[in-house]
Parts: sequence; structure tokens; C-alpha cells
Amino acid sequence: MDRRSFLKLAALAAAGAGVAGCAADTAHPPGAFANRLRVPPLLAPDVDASGARRFELTLRQGETELIPGKRVSTWGINGDHLGPTLRMHRGDRVAMAVTNRIGEPTTLHWHGMRLPARMDGGPHQTIRPDATWSPEWTVDQPAATGWYHPHPHEQTARHVYRGLAGMIQIVDPEPAASGLPSDYGVDDIPLIIQDKRLDSDGRLVEEFDGTFGLIGETILVNGTFDPFVEVPAGRTRLRVLNGSNARIYFLEFADGREFHVIATDGGLLPGPVAVRRVPLSPGERLEFVTSFAPGEQVILRSVGERTEAATDIEEGDFDLLKIIATGPPRDVSPLPARLSTAPLPEAPPGALVRRMTLTGSEINGKDMDMARIDEVVPAGAREIWEIHNTTYTHNFHIHEVAFRVLEINGAPPPAYLGGPKDTVYVPKRATVKLAVEFGRHADPAAPYMYHCHILRHEDKGMMGQFVIVAPGTEDRVSRLLPMPGHDHGG
Ligand code: C2O
Ligand code: CU
Ligand code: CU
Repeated sequence: MDRRSFLKLAALAAAGAGVAGCAADTAHPPGAFANRLRVPPLLAPDVDASGARRFELTLRQGETELIPGKRVSTWGINGDHLGPTLRMHRGDRVAMAVTNRIGEPTTLHWHGMRLPARMDGGPHQTIRPDATWSPEWTVDQPAATGWYHPHPHEQTARHVYRGLAGMIQIVDPEPAASGLPSDYGVDDIPLIIQDKRLDSDGRLVEEFDGTFGLIGETILVNGTFDPFVEVPAGRTRLRVLNGSNARIYFLEFADGREFHVIATDGGLLPGPVAVRRVPLSPGERLEFVTSFAPGEQVILRSVGERTEAATDIEEGDFDLLKIIATGPPRDVSPLPARLSTAPLPEAPPGALVRRMTLTGSEINGKDMDMARIDEVVPAGAREIWEIHNTTYTHNFHIHEVAFRVLEINGAPPPAYLGGPKDTVYVPKRATVKLAVEFGRHADPAAPYMYHCHILRHEDKGMMGQFVIVAPGTEDRVSRLLPMPGHDHGG
């Protein structure tokens, strides 16, 4: 019997027996939750002579079974597909060594990190093939879930889609939040949700043109097809990252249960917020906590909006993950009422207002230009940014900052959006008002990006550049960047 018919038989046998936890190497129809969720390894840093924690990351080509039994080409970081989770502690000095072995130029951006622009890994920090890029910074921000992914000019969608992405977790034990589940991969589970379009051999189809670029029909979680995960009964924390090119998920449990959002992109909420359903657009993160009774099995799924305010991205309904609670309850203490005492981003009265008008794939009528500085911001500024979406669905991400959503279409946002953020869903024709706090790493010659995180839009130029400068020097800053040897064709 050849391997393929063996796999078919094995799948039939498992389906007939109704077994959920059979070998991960077996093909199943979706809905069987047949594959154990892959949990990205935690990458332990070395401590170098200066005391810096050194993380070595190699971007490379690989082969993975995206669909069990079908080995296909993918890209990964320190592995065949996706990358390890990086846990950093507030106050750590971190030193990255990022080696590019994918065979073409790329970059690696630390999405959600507060750091100097030259360390940010945006389109200006190109890593040539076989070169190593070594940014360093001091982690100085609250506990949060971030991520890393390439950001090469006009090529981000393809690089992320092939598998270059990983999670960052910043640990900053606030006494208030010390009761939260934090045992990595046990009761604190990373969930990187991505859609793929796979051909009949399980290969990644790469068709990125179209209004929203690629919208895949197969949803993988941590690169796992049709996954289940076992957690101890009691409280579990899920850290969800939408690492998709364009899809928006509307997360809920199939039994309609209430769960508690505890953190947005940039850190913990002041207190837990009970919800039954939350949207998550590309690049955004949410952490939530829910409790499971021993033996309970619940499906986490995404069910599209079906209202007038709905997105115009084809949505679909997807089962994402079956959660199986085992053993006696491990943690049944009540969720702390106060999670964080850190001040939230605020804009003082009279704060400068910057308006960003989103059209098809432009911001304020302009396409991204690597040589143009669009906005000059004094270090430490607190501003209002108003994002006006005149067209179809977008979202908006600002590098380096923490912002808070003040209003959506003139009304206060839902409470679960009340924490620090760096990426916000901007539904069609909506206006979103943000209080934005900028950092203090001034550098008039190195820009940060703001952009739509629908990667097709980003690649088509729906991106602008800002610099942070010493207060009082704004007028002296050149709006043109010297771009030696830069080729605008990418
Ligand atoms: Cu997640 Cu500019 O990026
Ligand atoms: Cu970013
Ligand atoms: Cu967009």
C-alpha cells in the first residue's frame, strides 16, 4: 500500500472511531479536530558578556505539512514554519541576531515594541541574503503580547504568508495581575490565527492581487490544521494574534459562553471585560481568560458579522480550535478585578490633531514613498489621530506608539477595546479617533511607519512615515530622506 492510500485508510478508521486525539500525521476532514495544536517553542536567550539577552533568529526556507500528509514548501524562523516565541522581561537589554537565509532581501519588524526607529525592522532595515542584522534595545513597556514579522517594501504579504511570523511576550509582573495564568503552553496558550489558500496538494497558493489580497479558505492556528488543545481544567489564558493577510475574525465560543478580555495589543486592561464575541483584525492581539470544567470540550470559532456595519471582506464561519479540559481544576481563583494600574494613553486638552484619510489604498491621497517623511512628531508627544475611512474595510497600525481608542463614529468604543493598542480595526466608512502617546527615541533621519495592516494594502503603498525628533526642532527636519542607491521599484 502506498503512503497516500494508507493515510486515507487511517483517516477513515479514525473518523469511524470518532477519535479526536489520534496521530497528528493523519489526514482528516475539517471539523474532526484531529491534530494536536502546535505550540511554538520558547526561545531561551543567551546572556552575553554585557548582560544583554541574545536571541538568535534565522529566517529560512523549509518544508511543513500544512495539511497532514502533504509536505510543502514554507518559510520559518529557526524552523520550517513560523517562529519561536520570544519572552522578554521589562528592563531587559535584548540583542537580536537575525540571519536571512530565505534567498532574497527581507526585514524583521518587532510589532508592538517601543524602540528606536533603527531597531524597528521596517522597510529601511533591509537584511540582504545571508547577512545578519543585530538590533539592540532595552525593553521598557508593560506586559503585553507582540509579534515579529518581515516588513520589506512591497513584499510583506508574501513573506508573512509563507510563514515568517512569531509571537513576543513581554513579562512585567504587576502585582495586580500576578494571579493570571502564565504557564506557557499549559494554561497560557499562544494562538496565531492565519488563513491560507491551499491547492489540492496542500501547497500555498500565492495570489495576492484583488481588493484585499489573499483571503484563504483554510484557517491554521500556530500552523496547525484543524487543531485541538488540552488544557488543565480551571482558568486558561489565550493570547490570540491575528497574523492573517486580510481576514478579520469574530471570536466566540460555540456554546455562547462569556469570557473575559484581559489585554489588548499593548498591555493589560484596567480590569477584565466580559464579552461573548470580539472582532480581531490583522495585526491585532487580544488576551482572554475563560474557565473550563473538568472534561469540558468547547470550540473556539469565528462567525462573520451579518449586519449593515459588517465588513466587506468575505467573512465566512470557521471553527478554529477545540479546547479539551482535563484533570482536576488547576486554578479556580477568581480573576483579579484590577489587572493594571498603568496609566492609559491620554491626549491633553488642545492636543494636536492629525487626520488620516483612508481611500482605496492611499493615506491622505498619497502612496508610500520611502524617501518622504510624512509627519514629524516631537518626542514624548501626546496627540489625537483621527482616521477617516472613506471606503471599504481597512485597519490602522502605528509603529512604536501606544494608543487608546477614544471614539468610533463619535461614540465611545466597547469596553474590551479600552486598553493600550497599536492596531485598530477601521470598518468601512468609519471614523476612529485615537489618543496616541509617542516614545522618546528621537532620530530625525530614521522613520517609523503607520499603515493599513491588510498586507495587500500595505504593499500597495497604504503607508506613511513619521520621525520622532527633539521637541522644538520639528521645523528644521528635512522631509526628504537621503536614500543612497534606493530603487523605488523595490
Ligand atoms: Cu505588523 Cu508595520 O507592522
Ligand atoms: Cu508594527
Ligand atoms: Cu486597508
